[in-house]
Formats: sequence, structure tokens, C-alpha cells
Amino acid sequence: MPDRTLLVADDDPGLRESLERTLTREGYRVLLASDGRAALERLQDGAIDLIVTDLKMPGLTGLELLRAAKAIAPDVDVILLTAFGTVEEAVKAMKDGAYDFLTKPFRREQLLKLIDKALERRELIERNKVLQQRLDDLLRQGAIVGASPAFRRMMMLVEQVASSSATVLIQGESGTGKELVARAIHERSARAGKPFVAVNCAALPETLLESELFGYERGAFTGAAGRKEGRFELADGGTLFLDEVADLSAVTQPKILRVLQEGEFDRLGATRGIKVDVRLVAASNQDLVQMVKERRFREDLFYRLNVITVHVPPLRERREDIPMLAQHFLRVYAAKNNRRLDGLSDDALKRLEAWAWPGNVRELENVIERGVVLARGTQVDIDDLPPEIAGATPLPEGVVSVRIGTPLAEVEQRLLDATLAATGGNKTLAAKLLGIDVRTVARKLERWEEERSADEPPPAPAPEQSS
Ligand SMILES: Nc1ncnc2c1ncn2[C@@H]1O[C@H](COP(=O)(O)OP(=O)(O)OP(=O)(O)O)[C@@H](O)[C@H]1O
Ligand SMILES: [Mg+2]
Repeated sequence: MPDRTLLVADDDPGLRESLERTLTREGYRVLLASDGRAALERLQDGAIDLIVTDLKMPGLTGLELLRAAKAIAPDVDVILLTAFGTVEEAVKAMKDGAYDFLTKPFRREQLLKLIDKALERRELIERNKVLQQRLDDLLRQGAIVGASPAFRRMMMLVEQVASSSATVLIQGESGTGKELVARAIHERSARAGKPFVAVNCAALPETLLESELFGYERGAFTGAAGRKEGRFELADGGTLFLDEVADLSAVTQPKILRVLQEGEFDRLGATRGIKVDVRLVAASNQDLVQMVKERRFREDLFYRLNVITVHVPPLRERREDIPMLAQHFLRVYAAKNNRRLDGLSDDALKRLEAWAWPGNVRELENVIERGVVLARGTQVDIDDLPPEIAGATPLPEGVVSVRIGTPLAEVEQRLLDATLAATGGNKTLAAKLLGIDVRTVARKLERWEEERSADEPPPAPAPEQSS
């Protein structure tokens, strides 16, 4: 299997050279190391397909090299060369994950055959991985699932903003699907064929984030060996997704503002600005309006980012989407785990519908993945759900119907009344089902009570006693 890179580690220069000659003749690229440590350094540089190493070497032994190699590059197979009398150690190495071993002296053909087999296996594994990945992508591709009124309203806005190149701010709790929405905006825009580049502003410290975003020139700081293109450049013509934008530092914020205002930025250490055409989509699970009020986020940047806001509703405010999402994730994870499942049992679904989903769609996704793995029959059942969800009180039966155009305040009142009736007046349970605090329930009831008594006509004055 030519065009593969082999790393040969042996402290015997004679053997090293003869191996190099043999393997090069077969069309392999060969890298040499005279001990285990040097071999490890080579491996860290990447692009090694197989290691052939002597077992006994000064410094790092073949066995230690094997263990370190399995830690940094678990997919790279290791063939050990052992001297007569060290077979026991070689067997130990096999347990530690070596592909095979050869006892010296060996014939050239023996080694070549072993190398060929190892590389063939590796290729099979790699091909499998690619297929698995493609299957994943296919199943998930842009699949953004939902049909509830709240979800549809959001998607309508997504369609509308996609066609413009306005900056969009996506706000929503953790796990609601903000990143998915950002991708949906990109994919429905005229920039769809161009890159979508995501940066998580919370994941990196300030200086690293800036060099990621803007890139740097050679020698811009110690350690800047070459020139690096920033994400703004990589996203040219496309969309840059600034995730967790609330975490931008006070130093980085004005630099982002400048790109938005002037379409231009500087690489670190550069003398001239670089022009880019990038559409910015930002997201945060923190309330930026509040942060601006508290002066923790620049107001001018906020207004630039917030040309249009898309609010992604939490899952508890669109429970109608739960069955559809559950079914979607069930298909995805059944395929991924090679399981034949045709759905969720009615009971399991009832519990899912009753849960408040503090972790939103991501939590639901995890619960279904777990359920798919645990399911014994052809359905995911109650027992396959996490105990706290399996034990959730299913929603009471019953419907509150309201005419379109009914004032929200009235809808709220009627829904709360009906929920209280269904729970036998249990305020704590009603609050849980409605996804609000029990104190909020008490406050609302009190206020309505006051309003009711205020609306009542004042007691009629006692009729005058006529004498
Ligand atoms: N409407 C949806 N349809 C299908 N999958 C969804 C939907 N919404 C969210 N998901 C899935 O739920 C998971 C969480 O979504 P995503 O990462 O977009 O959330 P997020 O709001 O960015 O969360 P965080 O604030 O934690 O970063 C992802 O695996 C995503 O594919
Ligand atoms: Mg996210």
C-alpha cells in the first residue's frame, strides 16, 4: 500500500538503514527515529500511518512508546521488533494494543506482509468512519424540526431575514437550537455556497480569541512563526457565527464593532487593514439588553449586532414539538446504533410531554439517545427514560379552548384556573406543569382576586330608614 508514511524507530543504525531501504523500495515514505522519544515527537507532528519499533531502546522503550502512541494517535498501529528472549514482553505489548510483533532475525517478506495487513485494516476502519460520518450528516442535514405555532413564527422570521444581509442576534436558553438556527439562516441565504464559520467567544481567552478571529502576521508576537488567516478572512463571502457573544471582552468588543462599521480589520502585527464581506450572526443565552443596561456590554455594538433579533423559544413553551422531535432523534440514533425501533410507547411519550426540559432540545436529544441504547423491545419505554423523567407526573387530560383574538391575560387566567382544577388545587404541581415558579402562581391568583373584588360594585348604601 504505497503512499503511506511509516515511522521506524530502532537504536541500531544498521537495521534502521536496511529497513529504510527495503520499505522505500516498496513505495512507502519512511521516517526514522533513533529512540522512543524522537519517535514520539515525530508522531505528534502528525501524518504517520504506522509505527515499526524496536522493543528495547535507550530512553523511552518500545513498550512505553506504544502506550504513549495509543494515547495521542489511537488509530495508528504499532508493530514491534523483539530480540530473541523478550517474547514475554512482546505478549504484554499485544495486550497494550500492539498490532503484532516479529522476533529478530526475521525475513523481509514477513515484515512487509505484516505492514500490508495492518495498513489494510486501518484503511477499512477509516472508510467505515467516513461512511458513519456521512450517514450522520445525511440524517441530520439541516434537519430543523418543529411545527408548533411558536416554532413556525420563528422559522418565518428566519426565512425573512435570510434573504437580507442584516446582522442577526439569536437569543435563547441553552440547548434551544441557536446554532441550528444560525446555520438555517446561512443555508437559506444567497451566501449558502460560501463558508459558514463558527467561533465560540466563551471558549478562548481574549488574546487567543483575537488571533483566531483576526489572524496574525509572522512575528506579531513570540511564537508567531508563520502567518495565520483569521476566521473573518475564512468566512469571506459567507457567514461568521459568533456564539456566546456576551462573553466578548471589553477589549475585543470595539474591534468587532469596527469590522461591522467599516467592513475592515487588522491582522495582529499588520500595517494595513483587510477588507472582508462577511455576514455576522451572533448568539447568546444571556440577556444582552440587560447586560447593556448594566454596562457589561457595549451599547453601540449591541445595536449593530441586534439589527434583527430571533428569539428561540424554550422547549417547555412549545410542548407540541416534543413528539416530533423525539421521533426525529429516535430515527437518528436508531440508525447510528444499528437498532430497529419503531417509536416510543404512549406512556413514555406522555412523560416526555410532561417534563419541563430545563436543558431544552439538547436534553431531549440526550434522553432519546440513552433510551435507544437501553431499549430492549422495538419501542423506547418508560423504563428506558432517566428516573426523574420516568417519575414525572403525566399532564392531566383536558383541553382549554380559546377563541383567536382572546386577550392573553384572559387566556392565562383560564389556563391557570383549568390547571388548578385538574390538579385538585395543588399550586406546586400546577406551577411545575406550567413551567413557572409557585410564587408566581400565588401572586397571579392574589392579583386576580384583588381585581375581581375591585370590579364588584361598591356595596349599596343601606336604604334610608323612613319613619
Ligand atoms: N428544532 C430542532 N430540530 C432538530 N434538532 C434540534 C432542534 N433544535 C435543537 N436541536 C438539536 O439540539 C442540540 C442543541 O442545539 P444547539 O447546539 O443549536 O443549541 P444552542 O442553543 O446553540 O445551545 P447552547 O446555548 O448550549 O450552545 C443540537 O444537537 C441540535 O442539533
Ligand atoms: Mg450553541
